[in-house]
Amino acid sequence: MNSCTLQRRAFLLGSSMVAVWMSSPGRAFGLTKPVSLPSERVRSLIARMTLEEKAGQLTLAFAAYAGAAVAAHNPAQAQMQVDNQREQVRGGLVGGIFNGRSIETSRAMQTAALASRLGIPLIFGADVIHGYRTIFPVPLGEAASFEPSLCERTARAAAIEASADGLDWTFAPMVDIARDARWGRSVEGSGEDVLLGSDIAAARVRGFQGRSLRDADAILACPKHFAAYGAGESGLDYNAVDMSELRLRETYLPPFKAAFDAGALSTMAAFNEINGVPCHANRWLLDGVLRKEWGFEGLVVSDFNGDLELIKHGIARDERDAARLAIMAGVDLSMASGIYLKHLPDLVAKGEVPTDRLDQAVARVLTVKERLGLFDDPFRRLDLQRAKKVTGTPAHVALAREAASKSIVMLKNEGTVLPLPRSGKKIALIGPFSEGPHDLVGPWTVFGTDQECVDLATGMRAAMSDPTLLTVTQGSSTTIPLDGGIEAAVAAAKEADVVVLALGEHQRMSGEASSRGQIVIPEPQQRLAEAVAATGKPIVVLLKNGRALVLEGAVAEASAILVTWFLGAQTGHAIADILFGKASPSGRLPVSFPRDPGQLPYYYAHKPTGRPAESKRYTPFTTRFIGLSNTALYPFGHGLTYGDIAYEDIAVISANDGVTVGALISNRGARAATEVVQLYVQIVTASLTQPVRELKAYRKIELAAGGSQRVSFQLRKADLEIMDADHTRRFEAGTFKVWVAPSAEADGVSGSFKL
Ligand code: GLC
Repeated sequence: MNSCTLQRRAFLLGSSMVAVWMSSPGRAFGLTKPVSLPSERVRSLIARMTLEEKAGQLTLAFAAYAGAAVAAHNPAQAQMQVDNQREQVRGGLVGGIFNGRSIETSRAMQTAALASRLGIPLIFGADVIHGYRTIFPVPLGEAASFEPSLCERTARAAAIEASADGLDWTFAPMVDIARDARWGRSVEGSGEDVLLGSDIAAARVRGFQGRSLRDADAILACPKHFAAYGAGESGLDYNAVDMSELRLRETYLPPFKAAFDAGALSTMAAFNEINGVPCHANRWLLDGVLRKEWGFEGLVVSDFNGDLELIKHGIARDERDAARLAIMAGVDLSMASGIYLKHLPDLVAKGEVPTDRLDQAVARVLTVKERLGLFDDPFRRLDLQRAKKVTGTPAHVALAREAASKSIVMLKNEGTVLPLPRSGKKIALIGPFSEGPHDLVGPWTVFGTDQECVDLATGMRAAMSDPTLLTVTQGSSTTIPLDGGIEAAVAAAKEADVVVLALGEHQRMSGEASSRGQIVIPEPQQRLAEAVAATGKPIVVLLKNGRALVLEGAVAEASAILVTWFLGAQTGHAIADILFGKASPSGRLPVSFPRDPGQLPYYYAHKPTGRPAESKRYTPFTTRFIGLSNTALYPFGHGLTYGDIAYEDIAVISANDGVTVGALISNRGARAATEVVQLYVQIVTASLTQPVRELKAYRKIELAAGGSQRVSFQLRKADLEIMDADHTRRFEAGTFKVWVAPSAEADGVSGSFKL
């Protein structure tokens, strides 16, 4: 084909893309920002690509070198799989590879890609969810810091390590709002609240993508799972989602919008359906909302086989039909299933998928690669020397300890049993999470290992002046009793002055496909707690958990309780820092801890109903379960410090376009403290019902012993808007209640105003 024809085709392609662009009504009337057109390089490549090569570019392959175990078990077979994949790459039939574990093999794959007919570089992706080699707290734990800037820093550190080891793209942040603690993937997100979830979503995108995607230490973010994956009925993973568009727009979409506004250039479709239409075939969602309303210009990738699963969902007849539905709905890149490579060429050749749609998807993928600098230097993140210099640095280790410490939430501390003295007291550390390289990194770590983390016993010994005063007894396994375990634990408790009970969930009890019917401490551990409590010794419970838990019996009645999630690399040191008072607990619950599993889904920002239950006393014929208060055992935003914090003297000053709300926060205790001051609002009357309270702002402040600080928040009308029945956000004049408080259900100080 001579250059003239080429230019002509490139021009036609360009004009046809303009046509596609202008065809959407939104743009025609300028309702959304104009989409930037593909570069000349991208248009020229598309003009030269065969249908096969285009379908290949839309194929994200699971790395044949993803599992070290496979290679160890059968090296010859593993090598053959790698060789086969490399030949596919050389044939221009693969656009990207994910979850590979070897930078050397990735380099070989990139070399093969550059040797293909058009030499289009591969993109390498992976699940870098909470750290790469230096593992940070699981995202739900890190959200407890109520410090988006911390989340940005850990994402940045993860990007530096991941990009040095060959990765261009992470399938993170997970931004699904989760309000049913039975769902195992709550652990990967930022909890139940829209504001906190949106702030952290944006922060993690900024952290991953850095200053410019062209920078070698930037990796492409991928807010997931689009959308409402956390709303599966009964908290059952992958389950159907059925909700009003109003609730979808008010609660589940905002964190995605915040992530895209922060610059994320990819997103991942969710496995679930919404109101009968699976997300992977949901054109209203993937094109209507994402493209036409929001002007998103990045790429949409399927979740693992999510396009193929349209058959199981019952809306695709076969693989070919699934490929057609997915590409036409707006899924640009097919992860793992391979059905785009198999069926798109024929679908396009037979006119069942327009060439324009195929070219649009290819243009998005090539444009993302271009923005990542992969055409300029395909090996920029495949630098064998860089990884050694930037991985596991003292700065990253220190950050892991800081993040872990700030993620710990102190639920109670009766009789100030905490902090423990570093010497002079015998401590019995008891429970399945007392020591050993297990359950430290938490679910969803593809590259970090428990072996590289500091366990609890190690951390406590390091913090104690006389480590011989610490005894360690397992007492029970996580889910099965240990022969003689309880007896040994009771004996150890009797010898000690104080007991530290390390109980909770192992790391396969949360994460994907890990929904639990009963969100309680496994029964053998509960029995262990009851037996140890019977000794009468003061007990400090350390919870290991990937979700909110219902605490019962001796666990709930312990003198002190710390929520420690899965804290990653510096687990032991961070917990010891809090236990022995080197740091004051500052974490706040990003999810409500209900009183009973029967309350699920429980979240604080619930509607009042026509018969709101009184929180302080029983009121008949109101919205509550028999024998249960309609409140949380420990509410969203709750967390104690080593200070004694008082909220006083609220002042609400109205101005024409908003109000200023201030309060005096004092620390009457003898120890310095970090307090997370929270501002909640209730819109008392509106055209649609509104939550009893909603977080509108929060701020972490440092208070010296005896110190105080006046904290003020600005509330503009835009912060007080509701989404009306037409799904338009607008301000409605009226009366507003406001709280400055330490949690979603605490009184703090309150007032009201009209605006
Ligand atoms: C999984 C998850 C998704 C992950 C993907 C790739 O099934 O749903 O979050 O990014 O596969 O590993």
